[in-house]
Amino acid sequence: MAFMLVFACISLLQSCTAGSTVSTVTKNQPSNDAVTPLLDVIQVEAPLRASYGGASCKQTIVQHEFAASYGTPYIGSYSPPKDCKFTTTIFNMSVTSYGINFDRLALLYFGDIELWRMTTAMPVRTGIFYKYEKDLTIFDSLLRSEEKIIMTLDNIYNSVFTGSYNVTITALYFDDQETLTPADNILPISSQSSSKNQSSAFSLPGDNATTSLTLPRNVERAVVSILASGNGAEEFWFRNVINENKGFFNNDILYGYSPFREVQLIIDGSLAGVSWPFPIVFTGGISPGLWVPIVGIDTYDLPSFEIDISPWLGTLCDGNSHSFELKVVGYDSQTTLGTVNSNWVVSASVFIWSDHGGNQTHGSSIESQTPAPAFEVMPNVTSMNTTNSNLFSKLTAYRFLSHSATITTSSGIRKLTWRQDLSYTNIQNYTALGYNKTLSQHTRGISTFSATPRKHFTTISNSYSWPIFFTSNNVVSPDPKATNSTLVASIDRSSQSHTIPIIPYLTQSVSLFIPQVLSTRQNGSCIYFWNNTLYEFAGAIDPADGTLGATEQWYSYKDSQESYGRHVKAIDGYEPVLILDEEFQNTISVPEADLDMVD
Ligand SMILES: *[C@@H]1O[C@H](CO)[C@@H](O)[C@H](O)[C@H]1NC(C)=O
Ligand SMILES: *[C@@H]1O[C@H](CO)[C@@H](O)[C@H](O)[C@H]1NC(C)=O
Ligand SMILES: *[C@@H]1O[C@H](CO)[C@@H](O)[C@H](O)[C@H]1NC(C)=O
Ligand SMILES: *[C@@H]1O[C@H](CO)[C@@H](O)[C@H](O)[C@H]1NC(C)=O
Ligand SMILES: *[C@@H]1O[C@H](CO)[C@@H](O)[C@H](O)[C@H]1NC(C)=O
Ligand SMILES: *[C@@H]1O[C@H](CO)[C@@H](O)[C@H](O)[C@H]1NC(C)=O
Ligand SMILES: *[C@@H]1O[C@H](CO)[C@@H](O)[C@H](O)[C@H]1NC(C)=O
Ligand SMILES: *[C@@H]1O[C@H](CO)[C@@H](O)[C@H](O)[C@H]1NC(C)=O
Ligand SMILES: *[C@@H]1O[C@H](CO)[C@@H](O)[C@H](O)[C@H]1NC(C)=O
Ligand SMILES: *[C@@H]1O[C@H](CO)[C@@H](O)[C@H](O)[C@H]1NC(C)=O
Ligand SMILES: *[C@@H]1O[C@H](CO)[C@@H](O)[C@H](O)[C@H]1NC(C)=O
Ligand SMILES: *[C@@H]1O[C@H](CO)[C@@H](O)[C@H](O)[C@H]1NC(C)=O
Repeated sequence: MAFMLVFACISLLQSCTAGSTVSTVTKNQPSNDAVTPLLDVIQVEAPLRASYGGASCKQTIVQHEFAASYGTPYIGSYSPPKDCKFTTTIFNMSVTSYGINFDRLALLYFGDIELWRMTTAMPVRTGIFYKYEKDLTIFDSLLRSEEKIIMTLDNIYNSVFTGSYNVTITALYFDDQETLTPADNILPISSQSSSKNQSSAFSLPGDNATTSLTLPRNVERAVVSILASGNGAEEFWFRNVINENKGFFNNDILYGYSPFREVQLIIDGSLAGVSWPFPIVFTGGISPGLWVPIVGIDTYDLPSFEIDISPWLGTLCDGNSHSFELKVVGYDSQTTLGTVNSNWVVSASVFIWSDHGGNQTHGSSIESQTPAPAFEVMPNVTSMNTTNSNLFSKLTAYRFLSHSATITTSSGIRKLTWRQDLSYTNIQNYTALGYNKTLSQHTRGISTFSATPRKHFTTISNSYSWPIFFTSNNVVSPDPKATNSTLVASIDRSSQSHTIPIIPYLTQSVSLFIPQVLSTRQNGSCIYFWNNTLYEFAGAIDPADGTLGATEQWYSYKDSQESYGRHVKAIDGYEPVLILDEEFQNTISVPEADLDMVD
């Protein structure tokens, strides 16, 4: 929700602002005589299709201003379009905001099932606009039925935080004349709170994120899609330290439970798969100045993680209910895996394809290998309590897991295997009593689903590499009412992947947009001043000398039908602007992120 140092205050926003004496601020509203055009705040992404023209039909499904919306989601109803022939469904979200506010997390649910998780851009006084198009075709069965829409965007709106978020989501339906094979059922692993007009996300570690589900007896294929993001005290989980080092500087600067996180899917008490999360950086993250007008990777559409649970079908198709649990754990030197801070917002969905020719799926007992992850930790706790000391730490982790079983459906007998291999390195160096830090982290993974003999299924392999490096130095004013505090920050990060996204692949097997090869890098640096009049702090973007801040991004994408490249560069500052914007109908070369310390 915000940058790091002032976190202790921000995480208690209400109490921070409750005592504030700031009351002279006038609300920023679009005024008729405003001449400044809205700032377009972009997430660099390949277009979903060659043209958005020629939609069979469209309808607005959400139009709502989220003002003082804390705890009050938008409730609406969805009806499938009438007399409209369609295969592909795209939701177009557009948002305007004027004034001052933090980035806010938003969740879009249809009933108990989460469709889209996003965070907002941070507004500027003269107003921002942004839009994002997301393909929702994998939810085809929901899109053809009546659904309750629940959209949560918990926003604080008062004399200090003057920015509301005016959200419009339009559904565009296209007839691409392909034969869809969408999931027959989508079952929620969620708190199932739609009947109470609440979103169904669990909050971990406080909640017990367990759902009992009874699957149909004739399932051919089942894949779990998980959405999980660290928020509150877990927004910057990757810069946390092991518990032994938490008190290193004898202050409250450092957060514990290690910089390692694992999201687990547990079926009937057994670990079925894991996600080592992408280090998402929201638009207030590391330094707010870095993300205007180019937001961080995946900000408007937080990535889901898929685990194929088809090897479990022999058990899951027995007609009984089974327990599906989501957990988030960190590294703990005593217990290897332990709890985390508050809070992780999680929910998941089970996408089920039925065996239409069969009555019951049978399976051999599952062969599982789930050894505990291997960790290596290098703390330096030799220089406690000295003012000029540094805390250097390195944590590495590796794990693999696999599940195999022989599954019999009407289409044959096959050995199905799900396997994951993951590696992780995190190196941090805290100085200046924890106020200055450098961090580099690299998460890599490969997930593979395979079936032998091959019949309808190909081997599906997804590999990814997520390096991130940043520095963030805080010089805190001894008298914040008189002088500014300064935040000096830089970032360099990439997302590289080679994927066959399992659920789109199973849904749209006719048009194989695969494999998808993505490489993108963002780097930038900026100096950000703020002072203790909360209003100014929340709204200030960079120093007057805007040349001190710049963010650059390369983006290169290719699938079997499309090649796309884009290179953008922005000057942050009082008048943030794109100074370079090149688009290509081909892939481009993306320079490697400079990780400084990590291989
Ligand atoms: C999405 O909505 C915005 C705002 O109305 C509009 O500018 C944009 O063209 C729309 N995108 C599509 C694909 O229709
Ligand atoms: C929100 O946006 C919609 C669509 O652009 C517009 O009609 C409406 O007036 C806006 N609401 C506010 C409060 O600005
Ligand atoms: C849920 O919201 C709808 C629409 O605002 C309302 O009609 C209904 O009474 C609400 N249900 C509950 C349980 O609050
Ligand atoms: C969580 O809920 C499940 C199902 O309701 C229950 O079996 C389990 O004991 C609960 N776990 C804890 C730690 O309360
Ligand atoms: C640092 O020193 C203080 C006072 O001497 C002591 O109370 C504290 O426990 C020390 N911190 C650590 C992490 O050892
Ligand atoms: C499925 O059950 C029906 C009704 O009991 C039976 O007629 C049919 O032969 C069964 N099909 C298979 C593949 O076992
Ligand atoms: C650990 O701290 C000691 C004492 O300050 C220092 O000599 C040593 O170089 C440090 N090691 C690392 C890896 O930073
Ligand atoms: C940590 O940072 C300090 C201060 O910049 C530097 O002197 C030290 O060499 C760094 N340690 C490592 C291991 O990079
Ligand atoms: C912390 O960072 C600030 C700003 O970059 C710098 O001026 C200061 O010297 C750093 N302090 C230490 C102890 O490295
Ligand atoms: C605080 O920052 C604002 C700009 O964000 C500036 O106008 C104001 O003068 C600053 N106050 C002090 C005391 O520096
Ligand atoms: C604080 O920073 C603002 C820019 O954000 C600047 O206008 C102001 O002059 C600065 N105040 C001091 C005391 O340096
Ligand atoms: C990003 O890194 C490249 C080197 O790979 C450098 O030339 C460029 O100036 C950096 N961009 C920014 C905005 O820091």
